[in-house]
Amino acid sequence: MSEHFQHDVLVIGSGAAGLTLALTLPDNLRIAVLSKGELAQGSTFWAQGGVAAVLDDTDTVESHVEDTLNAGAGLCREDAVRFTVEHSRESIQWLIDQGVPFTRDSEPAREDRGFEFHLTREGGHSHRRIIHAADATGAAIFNTLLEKARQRPNIELLPQRVAVDLITERKLGLPGQRCLGAYVLNRDSGEVDTFAARFTVLASGGASKVYLYTSNPDGNSGDGIAMAWRAGCRVGNLEFNQFHPTCLYHPQAKSFLITEALRGEGAYLRLPSGERFMKRFDPRAELAPRDIVARAIDHEMKRLGADCVYLDISHKPAEFIKEHFPTVYERCLAFGIDITREPIPVVPAAHYTCGGVLVDEHGHTDVPGLYAIGETSFTGLHGANRMASNSLLECFVYARSAAADIQVRLAQTPEPQALPSWDASQVTDSDEDVIIAHNWDELRRFMWDYVGIVRTNKRLQRAEHRVRMLLSEIDEFYSNYKVSRDLIELRNLAQVAELIIHSAMRRHESRGLHYTLDYPQQLPEAHDTILAPPTYHD
Ligand code: FAD
Ligand code: SIN
Repeated sequence: MSEHFQHDVLVIGSGAAGLTLALTLPDNLRIAVLSKGELAQGSTFWAQGGVAAVLDDTDTVESHVEDTLNAGAGLCREDAVRFTVEHSRESIQWLIDQGVPFTRDSEPAREDRGFEFHLTREGGHSHRRIIHAADATGAAIFNTLLEKARQRPNIELLPQRVAVDLITERKLGLPGQRCLGAYVLNRDSGEVDTFAARFTVLASGGASKVYLYTSNPDGNSGDGIAMAWRAGCRVGNLEFNQFHPTCLYHPQAKSFLITEALRGEGAYLRLPSGERFMKRFDPRAELAPRDIVARAIDHEMKRLGADCVYLDISHKPAEFIKEHFPTVYERCLAFGIDITREPIPVVPAAHYTCGGVLVDEHGHTDVPGLYAIGETSFTGLHGANRMASNSLLECFVYARSAAADIQVRLAQTPEPQALPSWDASQVTDSDEDVIIAHNWDELRRFMWDYVGIVRTNKRLQRAEHRVRMLLSEIDEFYSNYKVSRDLIELRNLAQVAELIIHSAMRRHESRGLHYTLDYPQQLPEAHDTILAPPTYHD
């Protein structure tokens, strides 16, 4: 039997964004936090490098703003950048207050520095400003916030719950546009339950699973973006998919990232011959922004017909490497690579979704009662290329801002309504799950081949043609068979793939992460790519 639940706030996602929002809301609100798998399912747990923030007295807001604008290739919204950076210090202080065990500076504290934690450096940053917990920052943050959430009786943590679709007044045929909650597949019971809420928050992470090779954990299928689109929200700048330059290249190492902090601490990129090559592409060499480094690697691999390039930190003392990068060291060693002695084989892989659901500085979407925060949102912070370690920062700043906004609006927002149950009367069990697996594979492969690091008009047209066919097949499947996690994810991936392709087709220039051989130049004026669904109401 399916069940009905009522909450003040329904949070779809238990990563940095979702947990921060839940913990920032007051104790008297009934809050549900969903995760489609285990609570540690999303990217947050796997984050390595750290969180960018202005923490050191020798750093400035202006410098962080300027670096972000430069990395964003003219497309960042300056107000969003300023808002984020200005709130960076207090967000980090909040994390420290929650008990996150950031790495302390082992060197004697310098009086002029004004900060006791170690700060590392990553591409695009002109200053050391990345606070971290060795090279497992995400796990340190996630474990601390989860522990805090477990201590709060008003927060219900619900793993194995997959949100299928948002419930809006429009979908129910009622006057108005408000979001009233969501239908959610309970993977334990197999039933689709109804969650009614005064406020619904999409904190459901990115969509990098749309590509065959990715640094992301399973499950980053853009569900929040697809659900918001179907509910009538605009999306922005989805053509900007960030490819991280250095993921471990090894047949058994699925999705393992080699943190950019290695380059921040002096690692070199080398060709198979041992030659360094980054200076040929950018004077900042290994510390150029990610779009430049990933494209340079892609270029060299194609030029030489090489399977990978190499990241080399073996010239640094072994003790330093083990102390700063214990996770990377252990993981590579498990694959027979001793990074204190030899270079690491690496390739670029899809890493981060810079675009997403259009929001303002409080995380409001176009649909009243619906917020989007974290990687699923498009705030304007990242422009055409996200600067390293700005994304966790965005999660904290916007989650805290959305929580404050919810509190302001509570008094005028009615209690959750009784909503109709999910209608499963017309569907049967599928006996053709092989189609889902096949479509998953096909989609991710043509996205990698045709909508990857280097694009052309022809490749985009091919991808569009294929995604249309897939969408109609998936629609038919969705109308006739019971939903499963795989089917929900495939439907969302195909929807987001189509949005990425259409966004890319609209951009007649190369800028930041979007590079096309047909329009290699950057236009003098920068414009966002905003797409509106047929159901969008101004
Ligand atoms: P996530 O942490 O991805 O969480 C998404 C949540 O949504 C999960 O709980 C998931 O179960 C849930 N969910 C999704 N769909 C549904 C659904 N349909 N129903 C129910 N629940 C759903 N950024 C940095 O700033 N610094 C770093 O050092 C850094 N390192 C990274 C390393 C790796 C390997 C990766 C993959 C990313 C890294 N990033 C880093 C990016 C950063 O980690 C993410 O952008 C950020 O963690 C996203 O947080 P989030 O809360 O938005 O989503
Ligand atoms: C990394 O550690 O290289 C990832 C940092 C990021 O994605 O911001």
